[in-house]
Amino acid sequence: MTQKRVRFGIIGCGLMGREFASAIGRWCHLLAPAARPELSAICDTQPSMFEWYKSNFPSIRVATTSYRDLLASPDVDAVYCATPHNLHQEHYTAVIEAGKHLFGEKPFGIDMAANTAILDCARKHPGSFVRCSSEFPFYPAVQRIGDMLDSGAFGRIIEANNYFLHSSDMDPDKPINWKRMIEFNGEYGCMGDLGMHVCHFPFRAGWRPSSVRAILGDIVKSRPDGKGGKVPCRTWDNATLFCGAADQDTGDEFPLTLKTFRIAPGEKNTWSLEILGTRAAARFSTKNPRLLQFLDYKGGEQAWQHIDMGNETAFKTITGGIFEIGFSDMIIQMWAAYLHEMVNGKPLKRFAGCVTPAETALSHRLFTAALRSHRERAAVRVE
Ligand SMILES: NC(=O)c1ccc[n+]([C@@H]2O[C@H](COP(=O)([O-])OP(=O)(O)OC[C@H]3O[C@@H](n4cnc5c(N)ncnc54)[C@H](O)[C@@H]3O)[C@@H](O)[C@H]2O)c1
Repeated sequence: MTQKRVRFGIIGCGLMGREFASAIGRWCHLLAPAARPELSAICDTQPSMFEWYKSNFPSIRVATTSYRDLLASPDVDAVYCATPHNLHQEHYTAVIEAGKHLFGEKPFGIDMAANTAILDCARKHPGSFVRCSSEFPFYPAVQRIGDMLDSGAFGRIIEANNYFLHSSDMDPDKPINWKRMIEFNGEYGCMGDLGMHVCHFPFRAGWRPSSVRAILGDIVKSRPDGKGGKVPCRTWDNATLFCGAADQDTGDEFPLTLKTFRIAPGEKNTWSLEILGTRAAARFSTKNPRLLQFLDYKGGEQAWQHIDMGNETAFKTITGGIFEIGFSDMIIQMWAAYLHEMVNGKPLKRFAGCVTPAETALSHRLFTAALRSHRERAAVRVE
């Protein structure tokens, strides 16, 4: 069967732009994707980024330093924007207004006002399919946990914890870059960078935070400027959000703790999820990406089972079922989910869908409340 072809432009050819391009290069890995992305245009203000793309993707017709030129191209159906947070509003609204589909990066606007403007624009252009990036729920173990939630296996939720712990800023001598500058990264700091990763699964589960007590940490207060001097580093390094959450189906309330740390000793890039329920519990961490810990409680002894997950992905691939998975596999899964939903009008299943604009708005309400909570040293309602 001929696959539908979707011609993509990338605005922002850095770290994440290259991850998407590489996923396109490996698209044959998927057995029955809903569509096939083709890279037709790239845009970055640094033309030095173009060489890698051009030498690997002969399909590129436009390489430009102006995103308006990219959007004017008739060879572009959809755009992946992977630019700094201060540019999200300008770039995302321009993509949507140009009549293209949008896959945007988190936090989907530098602050709530920017996020609201992007969502208003998307509402005015319903023909544009708009989703936000977040790949960790596509790990096979997390997909299995999602299936368990769908079947009601956990019983009543007692507590849930979703953490994203980095060591990317452990070294105080690491020079500052845009992700540590408020004017480019935003006041949310580590929440803007890492927060969507810990909101995606809980929000998709239908868990709505109604209140938050946030404790934010500014641990490294200055950093080398890369020119021999030092500059203030004013972004939050670490955030712990103690949320009162309610299951939107049952109304049951429970504590939901979300952590986003840039300075987490002993961690490199650890995303973890723990759900404790009255009938079952589950744990997963990318530290041990094939391990699903599972406790099924039917009375009597409580015993944690350790299940080795293989390559049991939502979107089937050529890889044998017993083999390991990793970050770049999750990126392909996320993109397969985006194209599946674009073509079919709905996700393959609840937890195999990309973050919706409404879910990004909820994350902004939560992070905005968290900033206030920390300022006032008090629990705050999430509006
Ligand atoms: N999903 C994930 O796991 C993940 C991981 C890292 C970053 N991100 C997100 O991706 C986005 C980009 O982050 P990154 O790590 O790729 O950053 P990066 O700094 O590696 O890349 C950003 C690129 O944007 C370019 N750029 C800046 N201004 C531009 C403009 N006006 N027009 C066109 N290009 C411009 C820069 O030159 C740079 O090449 C951010 O929103 C970030 O939060 C997501």
